[in-house]
Amino acid sequence: MWFYGENGPIKMYTNRKSFILKLLAATCVVYLCIHVLTNTAVPVIREMQESGRNLAALGSGNLDNSVLDEENFKLLPVPESTDHLLPAKNEVKIIPSATTLSALNEVREVTRCTDRQLEPKIQQRGDYWVLYNYVRATKSHKCHESITYTTHADYSFMDNLVPLLERWQGPISIALHAPGTDFENTLESIAYLRDCTSPKVKELVTFHIYFSTKHVPKEVPKHDNIFTESYNCSSVPPFMNVSSENMYKAQKKLLYPVNVGRNVARETAQTNFMLASDIELYPSPNIIEKFLAMIAENTDPLLSKEHKVFPLHIFEVSANQQVPDNKTMLMDMLSKGTAIPFHKKLCPGCHTVPKAKEWQTAKETAGVHVFHVGKRTGYYVHWEPIFIGSHADPLYDERLSWEGKMDKMTQGYALCVMDYDFMILDNAFLVHKPGIKIYKKDPRRAMLAGKTHQLINKIIYPELKVLYGVRKGCAV
Ligand SMILES: *[C@@H]1O[C@H](CO)[C@@H](O)[C@H](O)[C@H]1NC(C)=O
Ligand SMILES: *[C@@H]1O[C@H](CO)[C@@H](O)[C@H](O)[C@H]1NC(C)=O
Ligand SMILES: *[C@@H]1O[C@H](CO)[C@@H](O)[C@H](O)[C@H]1NC(C)=O
Repeated sequence: MWFYGENGPIKMYTNRKSFILKLLAATCVVYLCIHVLTNTAVPVIREMQESGRNLAALGSGNLDNSVLDEENFKLLPVPESTDHLLPAKNEVKIIPSATTLSALNEVREVTRCTDRQLEPKIQQRGDYWVLYNYVRATKSHKCHESITYTTHADYSFMDNLVPLLERWQGPISIALHAPGTDFENTLESIAYLRDCTSPKVKELVTFHIYFSTKHVPKEVPKHDNIFTESYNCSSVPPFMNVSSENMYKAQKKLLYPVNVGRNVARETAQTNFMLASDIELYPSPNIIEKFLAMIAENTDPLLSKEHKVFPLHIFEVSANQQVPDNKTMLMDMLSKGTAIPFHKKLCPGCHTVPKAKEWQTAKETAGVHVFHVGKRTGYYVHWEPIFIGSHADPLYDERLSWEGKMDKMTQGYALCVMDYDFMILDNAFLVHKPGIKIYKKDPRRAMLAGKTHQLINKIIYPELKVLYGVRKGCAV
């Protein structure tokens, strides 16, 4: 899709020489062009996912289902330690909530949101069974009271939950892919996290579970009868050091249905605002209070009548570094080279946020504000932003898988056609779990990406044009 706009690749760029040069400078784009134009098996360097084994069943069934070597997409080794799972250590100091009750009431007025219940239910969703609100947070939120971090994972990624929660300090809605025997390990992991780590897990995290109708676990306890005894906390966390070949998903060569997970987690969020993210992306502290205070104030550019979402800048830090606690610390790390913009080494163009340079040199201030209002056009036409949005925003296409890449592109197209304003926030950001990603060839994944490319071009893009229409400058 990269260069298959309606005008075709060549026409689109002939009158934009400097733009071409800029684009060609990005290695990933060069590779992608070669890939697209020659239709060879040249691996697509562009690693579009922020992380996580975010994937989904690409038009299920039609694909040869061999599994990817997921190790190729893992981070460089992080020093092994379970310390971060223990709440007492490493705790980020959180400033007490500055959001007053009246500010929260303002949020309710401005958003005119409706409250939602956390109802457990079993429901089919395409080729999947979903156990919605299977393990519920004990604390319920009204729609204006907070922001929900919505995410997806399998149990091998659950070591991220406690560090994420320490920084977020708000509701989390997580959809876990747990086919076959992965289900049991997933329940054990949830039990461990609830009983043996931070009490915030029980209080704030709601877990949903889903699996293909072809890979239903042998036994699925009722939602009110899952954890009958408390977990033995002296045993090793079930999600530690999981080797992917021991997982049911890998043994059965399943793809990771990333967008089913993303959508399940998003739809079940109780709050009006949500940060739909990947579990390895840790937010800067205090975003919730600061963001809601900004919404309550409701001054320009928020008064704009356009649809809006609030993207966050994303960074990565070396394996031996601490995740920065605030923008000042981040800027210091950027200047020393111990932090870099996300995927700078894989594909600089993929996650670049408009006015990125200016953002990186702008001093930290109190609160959060809109730094710049951008659009997903021009240099940013293939941007896959991670943003704070609401229930009103389009969901993700569930035919796309993590392995097939480009899994957020179709949502991006819809946002562009609907002329969304991308209101980039100034003092808030995301940092990937320490460890800088490097590119490794993966012919299997390159093949799947080729198929995704075709699926999007031949089937999904024409659908989107019918459903959302077209707008000059927008592409998938
Ligand atoms: C808990 O697990 C530890 C380590 O595996 C074991 O030594 C201990 O006996 C277990 N305790 C109980 C009550 O099962
Ligand atoms: C995980 O594996 C590493 C070596 O690969 C080992 O040093 C560490 O103790 C293991 N951690 C746990 C909790 O088993
Ligand atoms: C940023 O975080 C560092 C480390 O926690 C702290 O020393 C510093 O005071 C913080 N700066 C601001 C402006 O909050």
